[in-house]
Amino acid sequence: MDIISVSNQKGGVSKTGVSFNLGSALALKHDKKVLLIDNDPQANLSEYLKYEPDGEPTLTHLVMTVCTGRTLTPEYVKSAVRHSDTAGVDYIPADINLANSETLMQTAISRETVLRRILANVEGYDFVIIDCLPSLGTLLINALTVANMLLIPVQTQKFSLDGLQALNNLYEQIKTAINPNITMLGVLPTMVDHTSVSRNALEELNEKYSNVLFKTQISKSVEAAKSSENGTPLCMTAHKLGKEYCELAMEVLSRC
Ligand SMILES: Nc1ncnc2c1ncn2[C@@H]1O[C@H](COP(=O)(O)OP(=O)(O)OP(=O)(O)O)[C@@H](O)[C@H]1O
Ligand SMILES: [Mg+2]
Repeated sequence: MDIISVSNQKGGVSKTGVSFNLGSALALKHDKKVLLIDNDPQANLSEYLKYEPDGEPTLTHLVMTVCTGRTLTPEYVKSAVRHSDTAGVDYIPADINLANSETLMQTAISRETVLRRILANVEGYDFVIIDCLPSLGTLLINALTVANMLLIPVQTQKFSLDGLQALNNLYEQIKTAINPNITMLGVLPTMVDHTSVSRNALEELNEKYSNVLFKTQISKSVEAAKSSENGTPLCMTAHKLGKEYCELAMEVLSRC
């Protein structure tokens, strides 16, 4: 089971778009069994997946259970897993209260391993993909502690490389201190267009991250917003973003 953390503390770089569309491409085009985890109190991924509160636990409840020292059973974790037919994936949704559970996490015993202890109850998936929130806080540290791969989407716009060093430092620290299994799956250029700003950002990425840069680039297009609105995975559309996400899935499979 490969666990991919999709992370960048910068907001709006397409983390959620990548989590949803990579996950659905792996499931629908390659028949992989995929679990998506919404690790963001904004719960955008849950929106993509058309999640409606249904009384069953969300990631918030699972985190609260661990942090308050109650026993987590595989059955309880299972009851937090939903399925999306459209995307072909299972998922654990988030809600706004995940922000409160992150606060509670700060004082929990072994606070870095809360997500690891939750996912220890999950089996049978080829890929678990964790959509992270835009911050370097405890929820992100938890994602990097349980993952064996880090995927960093980078928006190819001005200042896009700002903050990548900080994320890289955190990755190195976690690899040294907590999770030696984590490796860099790759840096993915997103929202690529024909402007000189985008070209310059790509050049800079090539200079500094050429060894981990994906060959696939995700273009900037309004189709991305349309897909997020109606919940259609891009790999099922004829748009060029569909082809790009199919290529990304192939590249991820070849790197795993
Ligand atoms: N390839 C793309 N082309 C154009 N717009 C895009 C593309 N991918 C995502 N977007 C749009 O950019 C916005 C941010 O995307 P997304 O929510 O995936 O980013 P994020 O990194 O998850 O943001 P956050 O940091 O808030 O979690 C959304 O409105 C989305 O529709
Ligand atoms: Mg997001």
